[in-house]
Amino acid sequence: MHSEAMLVTRGLTRRFGGLVAVNAVDFDVKPGEIHAILGPNGAGKSTLINLLSGEIPPSEGEILFRDQPIQGKSVRQTARLGIGRSHQKTNIFPRLTCLQNCQLAARVHMGGIFASWRSRAHARMVDERAREVLETCHLMARADTPAADMSYGEQRQLQIAMVLATAPSLMLLDEPMAGMGHEETAQVTTLLERLSDRYTLVLIEHDMDSVFRLADRITVMVDGCVLESGPTEQIRRSEKVRDVYLGRHHEEATA
Ligand SMILES: Nc1ncnc2c1ncn2[C@@H]1O[C@H](COP(=O)(O)OP(=O)(O)OP(=O)(O)O)[C@@H](O)[C@H]1O
Ligand SMILES: [Mg+2]
Repeated sequence: MHSEAMLVTRGLTRRFGGLVAVNAVDFDVKPGEIHAILGPNGAGKSTLINLLSGEIPPSEGEILFRDQPIQGKSVRQTARLGIGRSHQKTNIFPRLTCLQNCQLAARVHMGGIFASWRSRAHARMVDERAREVLETCHLMARADTPAADMSYGEQRQLQIAMVLATAPSLMLLDEPMAGMGHEETAQVTTLLERLSDRYTLVLIEHDMDSVFRLADRITVMVDGCVLESGPTEQIRRSEKVRDVYLGRHHEEATA
């Protein structure tokens, strides 16, 4: 059976000891959309992405990518199928330059395809790919700058560039704007908007303005479960969602 969705989860569950971090989640991503995942701290958002990318195996349930089961596959295997992901914490190589970081990411990907092809043509392809993604992410001017000398916002953009270098069709981005100032957040929002023409994106993000501007659909998670999933306008107007957010904010304000 061919489904309309690019990625589907059914009853996806992950336990850590007695804690159910992701609890029977049914979730789907349509080709070309930006699908945002919202939810309070500890809701299970990162764990969900870790399951989709193969970082950790599920306790139960299935994940279908382009109608093929992928639960239990490794990060390397899912990357080869076209799933790229960025982490909540920055994981670049600080002493390498911006370009070298992207070359490394591209090489890991292309190495998988041309494992035995250690030619000059291979090096050129890696270099071309790395420069292309720096161009896309407006980082070309920083190509020869060690990553450690770039601003925090630029480092986060470099992370997105490194995911792009692996030539994914589905990008899973875990809080790409976390810790950024207003201007940098706006810059990355615009970048993601542009990328959405060519890529399917799953985006975890706390910045509501960016989420409502970018997302086609939103899934809201609370305590490992899906509270509500639907088009952005539906979530914006949802009383259930408002209760969770206002409820928590109220608790925090009065704590
Ligand atoms: N490797 C792990 N071992 C044990 N517990 C874990 C592990 N990873 C996550 N958890 C727990 O699972 C729950 C969900 O965590 P997760 O990181 O998925 O939340 P999140 O929605 O991404 O939160 P945040 O917004 O703070 O990033 C939390 O209670 C967390 O402590
Ligand atoms: Mg998280």
